[in-house]
Parts: sequence; C-alpha cells; structure tokens
Amino acid sequence: MKYIEIEFSIKPLEMYSEILQSDLCDIGFESFQDTNKGFLAYCQEGLYSEKELNLLIERFIGFNPDVELSTNKKEIEQQDWNAEWEKSYPAVLINNYCYVHAHFHSPLEEVEFNIEISPKMSFGTAHHPTTFQIIELLQNENVEGKNLMDMGSGTGVLAILAKMKGAAYVEAIDNDEWAYKNALENVQTNQSDIVVRYGDSSLLDGEYDVFIANINRNILLQDMQKYSKHIKNGGVLFLSGFYVEDIPILMEEASKYGFSLDRQISKDNWAALRLIKK
Ligand SMILES: C[S@@+](CC[C@H](N)C(=O)[O-])C[C@H]1O[C@@H](n2cnc3c(N)ncnc32)[C@H](O)[C@@H]1O
Repeated sequence: MKYIEIEFSIKPLEMYSEILQSDLCDIGFESFQDTNKGFLAYCQEGLYSEKELNLLIERFIGFNPDVELSTNKKEIEQQDWNAEWEKSYPAVLINNYCYVHAHFHSPLEEVEFNIEISPKMSFGTAHHPTTFQIIELLQNENVEGKNLMDMGSGTGVLAILAKMKGAAYVEAIDNDEWAYKNALENVQTNQSDIVVRYGDSSLLDGEYDVFIANINRNILLQDMQKYSKHIKNGGVLFLSGFYVEDIPILMEEASKYGFSLDRQISKDNWAALRLIKK
C-alpha cells in the first residue's frame, strides 16, 4: 500500500503544530514525524483527498491568520507509521490535574489523575482542544456516585477520568469499531470498571446524571433529543467538538429539550459547553 507524505512547514511552530496534526487526523492522516521546520504527515493513498486537505488548510489559516504554512507532497511506500508516530507521541498535562500519557512515559506523582492511553488510530489523546476542554470542565465537576455516559468515547479517556473521579456507573459508546476496541484496551490498562459499547445513540437505554458528547456539530444536532431523553432532570450535558460560531445553533436545539447554558469555554476557536437540564 502506498502512502502520501505531506511535509508541513509552520511558523510559529510550537503554537500550531499539535492542533494542525489533530485536525489532520480527522481527514485520514494517521501518523506524524516532527522536523525542525514543522512535521511530516502520512495518509494512506486511498484515504487521501487533496480537496479536503486544501479546505482544512484554508479553514486553519482563516482561524489563525498569523500562521505561516507551506506544504510539499510526496508518494511513498508503506512503513510502520503508527510505530513511528507512537514513538514521538508527546504526553499532555491538563492544569497540573490530569496527565494523559503513553506507556513509555512515566506517570507524574504530583498530578491527581494519570491516564495511560494507547491511542492507535482513535481520537482522544487530549492533544485536541475538544478533549482538553472537557477534561478542564470535568475538573470542576463532582461526579461522585453519579451515572455517567461518554458518547463518542474515542480512546475512552473521558470515561476513564470520570471513573477515577468516583462516578458510580460509567458507560462509553463509540460507533467506530477501532475506537471501541481501543477504549476496551485502555479501560483494561487503567483498571477501570466501565461498560464499553460499539454503536451510537440508538443503544441508549439508561438514565444519566452526567452525559458527555464530544463528537461534532451535525451529530450533536441530530442526536440532542435522544440524549435529552436519557438525562435526568437537573442532570448535566457536556458538549464539545464544534466551533465557537456553532454555539447559537446548538443552544437553539438544546433549549427545545429544556437545557440551559451554564458555562462555555473555548480554545483555538473550539468551544465546549456545560448545560443543565431543567
Ligand atoms: C471528537 S472524537 C472524541 C473522542 C473522545 N471522547 C475525546 O474526547 O477525545 C469523536 C468520537 O465520536 C465517534 N462518533 C462519531 N459519530 C458518532 C455517533 N453518531 N455515535 C457515537 N460515536 C460517534 C468517533 O468515532 C470518535 O471516536
């Protein structure tokens, strides 16, 4: 199988490299290698779309007008890109509170929650602002003794954190088979007691005090009513996976089912919301 290699040169490098890599994962890029000017990004030839890449770059520059970005494309033969990527995978520290790391990083003693994640191809390493921000919101959330749903669980990182924080019952659902299997693996590594399920909102059959959905604008709009049917009155819904300008349309939909906005945060134009159900 052939791969497409895109060489990215970015200025300023430290600020934008990780965010851009997370965005590239969404359009099929699976591994990255740092260079002194930026990074090399790899995508299977069959999954590569020049149109999607150009749109992503256009949007990225639109949101970050001070960034200088150039690319150079090459076709190459297969290597073990995942192994390469995992080798250079940096750990993420969130507010000195939660440390999301791979097996080759040592846990940090001074941090309250250390989570070991083997990311493979799944989303949820906390590098992306959508994950990072839900972890920040969970930092201030008392989930002790509560029933919690992590919809679109990716690696399972949020479900694992919720269980570590004392949630009584935690369920994680993802409609991507790879993510489902990866969440099972991560749940086992972190010795968490979590029910992991493969599917989508049609699986919902419980009632939750806290419901997390870090997916994307369209799925959240489509499934909001279903989520609301499974959230207790007075319960909390955390939403993430969309841009700041999407907040009004999401709030318009959420308010139809009795949700009001309690808190909103944003990072690199990605928004995360805490809603309360009346
Ligand atoms: C943005 S990632 C979030 C992963 C993780 N919860 C985190 O915070 O890092 C979204 C996840 O939702 C999953 N997903 C997409 N559409 C879905 C749907 N309709 N129902 C359930 N999961 C879905 C994707 O497979 C992906 O793993």
